[in-house]
Amino acid sequence: MEKKTFYITTPIYYPSDKLHIGHGYTTVAADAEARYKRMCGYDVFFLTGTDEHGQKIEDKAKAAGVTPKAYVDNVVDGIKKLWELLDISNDKFIRTTDEYHEKAVQKIFQRMYDKGDIYKGYYEGYYCKPCESFWTDTQAADGKCPDCGREVTKEREEAYFFKLSAYADKLLEYYDAHPGFIEPKSRQNEMVNNFIKPGLQDLCISRSSFKWGIPVPVNEEHVIYVWLDALSNYITALGYGSEDETLYKKYWPADVQLVGKDIIRFHTIYWPAFLMSLGEPLPEKVFGHGWVLLEGGKMSKSKGNVVDPVVLAERYGVDALRYYLLREVAFGSDGVFSNENLINRINSDLANDLGNLVSRTVAMVGKYFGGTIPENRAPGEFDDELISLAAETKQAAEGWLDKLMFSNALTDIWKLISRTNKYIDETAPWTLAKDESNSARLAGVMYNLCESIRIISVLIAPFMPNTSPVIRRQLGIDESCLWDECGVFGREKTYTVVKGDIIFPRIDLEKELAELEAKKAEKEPCKPEGIAQIGIEDFGKVELRVAEIKDCVPVKRAKKLLQLTLDDGSGAPRTVASGIAEWYAPQDLIGKKIVLVANLKPAVLCGVESNGMILAADCAEKDVRVIFVDPDMPCGAKIR
Ligand code: MSP
Repeated sequence: MEKKTFYITTPIYYPSDKLHIGHGYTTVAADAEARYKRMCGYDVFFLTGTDEHGQKIEDKAKAAGVTPKAYVDNVVDGIKKLWELLDISNDKFIRTTDEYHEKAVQKIFQRMYDKGDIYKGYYEGYYCKPCESFWTDTQAADGKCPDCGREVTKEREEAYFFKLSAYADKLLEYYDAHPGFIEPKSRQNEMVNNFIKPGLQDLCISRSSFKWGIPVPVNEEHVIYVWLDALSNYITALGYGSEDETLYKKYWPADVQLVGKDIIRFHTIYWPAFLMSLGEPLPEKVFGHGWVLLEGGKMSKSKGNVVDPVVLAERYGVDALRYYLLREVAFGSDGVFSNENLINRINSDLANDLGNLVSRTVAMVGKYFGGTIPENRAPGEFDDELISLAAETKQAAEGWLDKLMFSNALTDIWKLISRTNKYIDETAPWTLAKDESNSARLAGVMYNLCESIRIISVLIAPFMPNTSPVIRRQLGIDESCLWDECGVFGREKTYTVVKGDIIFPRIDLEKELAELEAKKAEKEPCKPEGIAQIGIEDFGKVELRVAEIKDCVPVKRAKKLLQLTLDDGSGAPRTVASGIAEWYAPQDLIGKKIVLVANLKPAVLCGVESNGMILAADCAEKDVRVIFVDPDMPCGAKIR
């Protein structure tokens, strides 16, 4: 029988190396759900990626002095590494600068255009660059973005519009007919009352005042609005609009699309309307989760608390962080992150409850039975309660996970952990061990403890993908597990345990908080976003020398090139081709001393073999200036 499919997505992230632990929240949640479904035997496709076009990126790239593509390329690897660090098991990572995506988005635009859903007009109103969203005069009456509160700018430009207004009734009908489409329900009410009922305006879906985007297929002077570009990723990643739509046919519509509450409007109004226009089915569910905040407001990497996921994962381990995020904040509501809370949870839930349970059990099986539980085992008081709670916990966790209620699932799993710890106190193995005649009962108690821990290792696996196999190794059983393994006691084989390290060492709260405080005080080295840093050893590889321009002629086959003959101090003339003909005439250069990159591999440019390059600066968009040096500097002098 063919496996049932499950398609889950996260939003695609703006490329930034300032991602904080709040950003990790959506991906960790989606990952837990994807892992759970895989364990249940589903054929899962889990998508995440980056949203790389738009004015905001173009501006940042300009500020960093690099092209937008270079800017995003530099940042995206960091995001991929962060997801690897957090053990995100995505099946695909899409970049909106991927060629297949760009082509498919143009097809999407064209299809909507051919359908008559897109027309040309003028955009006049307000634009919020950080949110890349448009607002009317009334919505941004105070000159501020209603979403983020930052300043908006007044814009007027020719633009293409999507007939969003034509979809208002269809959206309302769809919501009514599909009660699970938007969750939590409160978000649906918000969309209906704040946006749809007051009147949906047509949506501006192109920009012409900047260039960094996918060209509009019917007019290359325009680029496609980033949100149309970005939202399309959920289907282009599956090959929609390409020659091979197999994955699209297999996985679409998505089962769950997870988004933060700040972008629910885009996903529950624009996105379904675009899909309706394309005649494609809508996702089964869009879930808008809440925000992980800091005391006193929004999270940002520059704020007081240590919220850098890399630092946190290094100090406490990835699983502790994943556990904390999904346990502490009820999915759907806002929650507050604090280092103190995180450490307290690690100490109580992970070190005390879970860690101790495992280490005590493994130690007792070692002490009383030399590591292997004998076949001869006796049942006794307290067993039934533990056995039935384990079965109930499986059911409860399934119910919660199917509803994306991660925190409730973990709360119930921890009830089983506490119950198992209590079982140790009730059965008092140390007392049983005093009398040889209790040996079979003692073996029964040890077996039940191992069974309960085995079940717990399955239940926590979606949340804590590293800890589960560590526990299973200590129980001496197969590291990987399937969900159905966690329902009932009665593993036929017996256990041979293996003593291991403490899974979660306790943290000294006071000391740790003091260290974090000191860490905050350390000044972060200045690192402009989007520029890859190099070490001094990399810089040392570049050989820079003073050279004098002895001769200079235009290159016939290339309007932009000048052919320079240099004295680099070596005694032999050196030829370099330079793309500066637009800014300098040959006579401006002859006799000047410049900086030569002397160890660049030769390249043939329009028939001229160029041996190196000379340094120049981009001073304005259309102004390039050569770097001239002091005429007294000798040719060949090394610059370092
Ligand atoms: N690029 C858009 C999404 C396009 S999807 C077609 C975007 N990117 S983002 O990088 O700003 O945010 C990505 C996700 O991180 C969003 O779901 C956002 O809600 C989430 N979060 C960002 N900060 C957050 C918290 N502090 N807490 C929880 N989630 C947060 O929006």
